[in-house]
Amino acid sequence: MAHEKTLSELFHDTLKDIYFAEKKILGALSKMAKAAQSEELRAAFEHHEQETEEHVTRLEQVFGEIDQSPRGKTCEAILGIIEEGQEIMKEYKGKPALDAGLLAAAQAVEHYEMSRYGTLKTWAAELGLDEAVKLLDATLAEEKKADETLTKIAQESVNQHAEAA
Ligand SMILES: [Fe+2]
Ligand SMILES: [Fe+2]
Repeated sequence: MAHEKTLSELFHDTLKDIYFAEKKILGALSKMAKAAQSEELRAAFEHHEQETEEHVTRLEQVFGEIDQSPRGKTCEAILGIIEEGQEIMKEYKGKPALDAGLLAAAQAVEHYEMSRYGTLKTWAAELGLDEAVKLLDATLAEEKKADETLTKIAQESVNQHAEAA
């Protein structure tokens, strides 16, 4: 009989994808914090960088829940999103719209994470991995919060600054 790919394999594969992504995001957030002109935006990036370290730790715990050692698998999607953010940093360096561009790039990252964690949480529930559900949900809540904070900063200051110049 042919080897069948099961939901638990898909879960493990997707876990590797987001583990790879979170580690890349750690480096990207640190660069974006340094590049941000607005104090508020920089603080938001730095705060989320700290949370992201915790996301990596939680994922390691989820690997433990399925008796696997933590391993990443190249995630082309996150590499593309981060690459776009780096282009913005280069092209808008010193320009009024830099922060608006950085903020938009960061929101693309958050939305990618939200989609991954949402899916993983649903699969974990279907697989009866209760502890994994809790861990994934804790991170999902922080990704949503980070996205909301960025929206607020965009509306209250960064976008106006980009237009006013
Ligand atoms: Fe994250
Ligand atoms: Fe995030």
